[in-house]
Amino acid sequence: MKTITSLALLPLLLACGGATGAPSHAHPHGARDGARPTEGFRAHHAEIRTKLDQAAERAMALSSAPPEEVGELIHGIVHFFHHELMPHAQAEERVLYAAADRLVPTPHGRRYTDALRYEHTVVAREVAALHDAMRSGDHSPEALAAIQRRTVELVGLVKAHFGVEEEVVLTVFDELMSAEEFEREVVAPMHASGEDHQHGDAAHEH
Ligand SMILES: [Fe+2]
Ligand SMILES: [Fe+2]
Repeated sequence: MKTITSLALLPLLLACGGATGAPSHAHPHGARDGARPTEGFRAHHAEIRTKLDQAAERAMALSSAPPEEVGELIHGIVHFFHHELMPHAQAEERVLYAAADRLVPTPHGRRYTDALRYEHTVVAREVAALHDAMRSGDHSPEALAAIQRRTVELVGLVKAHFGVEEEVVLTVFDELMSAEEFEREVVAPMHASGEDHQHGDAAHEH
């Protein structure tokens, strides 16, 4: 009996977005057209995920690339992390995380986003190490293997970090803010910061 009832509800759940595992929009502030308030932010994350995959592919190509292409591959990796990912992280801390901290107060002077902020410091440290490796100009097999390993590990770390941002933090905004509030308090200030603008594909191509 229970199974029949669940199956009968399935089309309704799917129509409400239940297929993604995300909560439906029964909350009072959710966008009425079914789109989550954070949809645009999630789409930007998806663009960055594609570029994370490209960085990992460049790193994997290092072991078999002709010597004249190695410098270009390393530069492509470092440029993306340094000029695109890090500005995104900095804009998040100033705007998205600050808004999340206001939305979810925590006791003892801790911030709701402290763990994510700490992960940004780990990412920054790894990006700086890749930058140093690029500047050293060392293209020995050992140096290339170290860049490859560091890049692939960094991509994994950032993807896990994005998962927390999307599944935990953005979900809080979807549940507690309207689309208009999220636009006003997060999207517009992040764009105004001038550090989260690089949606085009020119940013890492030279
Ligand atoms: Fe982040
Ligand atoms: Fe992010």
